[in-house]
Amino acid sequence: MHVLVVGGAGYIGSHCTRDLIHNGHSTVVFDDLSTGHREAVDSEFVLGDIRDRKALRDLFSSNKFDAVMHFAAKSLVGESVSNPLKYYDVNVGGTTALLCEMQIAGVKNLIFSSTCAVYGAPEYLPLDEQHPKAPVSPYGQSKLMVEQVLDAAREREGFNIAALRYFNAAGAHPDGTLGESHSPETHLIPIALEASMRKRGPLKLFGDDYETRDGTCIRDYVHIMDLSAAHRLAMELLCSGSSKGGAWNLGTGKGTTVLEILESIERVTGEPVPYDKAERRKGDPPGLYAKANKAEKELGWTPQYDGVDEIISHAWAWAKNPRY
Ligand code: UFG
Repeated sequence: MHVLVVGGAGYIGSHCTRDLIHNGHSTVVFDDLSTGHREAVDSEFVLGDIRDRKALRDLFSSNKFDAVMHFAAKSLVGESVSNPLKYYDVNVGGTTALLCEMQIAGVKNLIFSSTCAVYGAPEYLPLDEQHPKAPVSPYGQSKLMVEQVLDAAREREGFNIAALRYFNAAGAHPDGTLGESHSPETHLIPIALEASMRKRGPLKLFGDDYETRDGTCIRDYVHIMDLSAAHRLAMELLCSGSSKGGAWNLGTGKGTTVLEILESIERVTGEPVPYDKAERRKGDPPGLYAKANKAEKELGWTPQYDGVDEIISHAWAWAKNPRY
């Protein structure tokens, strides 16, 4: 397949692009490099903004794509609360522009990067795809709005669409050439690894008084290589014509607390993570983990890296020697 990867210079997009190439597909990455890294792209690359219809039109007229994978989005929950318009503009407006240009070009298969943030605070766990959608941030709201646009495009405009709702993407490419590099970094594992290497001060542990087994928040950490495989499987399903798509959770079904992540880091690196107890972070639900058997049943996806220590060991190899 010839695949357009929009936002393919970012953390998740770059790993998915690499996975596509390694599995015999060809790719063009389109990215504005606002948060991504040119060094993360080992494919044909076009610089551009997803809201730029002319740039998209040029891209579709000079390529015959079988499918589009779409990762381009603003994704900082806190920033979305203070600057919500940016989130609706890029995430919702950008996706609508992309869909309109796909329609003009006659490209019907889209794999969309969604999030467990569409569910909001869990009413029950594990979260299945039917769980009520009540996002608590403009970020989550923007992703839910996109999913609604995608449902309409699938039901009324003949698109085949997979919305993949990620839990916590984590880890790095096992060969050490791709990894997570955000500025500012907000995610637990890279911050904790940098704290353990004394590249920054102690980690702030946001809340140790939740009603969980050790008082800290539970999340479902999914290896980035497993996420990449799920995207490829979803694309292959849509391109085979056997499904018009839907929404799938991508999680392992296993929850890990913040303190368990710190223990894993100490096991893997031999170094304890210095941390200070801090206030709860606003909007953090105590527990989030997936019921992911729909992806197993329908996409044939089972996480291959289902231990946190393996995620940490790949993230650590990257954190010691980041290429970008
Ligand atoms: N945490 C800390 N200290 C830090 C950073 C994080 O204690 O410096 C804690 C958080 O409070 C949370 C856990 O570590 O309990 C994981 O936090 P992350 O920021 O790594 O991940 P989130 O679960 O907040 O975010 C993920 C995705 C987002 C998505 C969100 C939906 O990364 O894209 O889930 O809830 F929006």
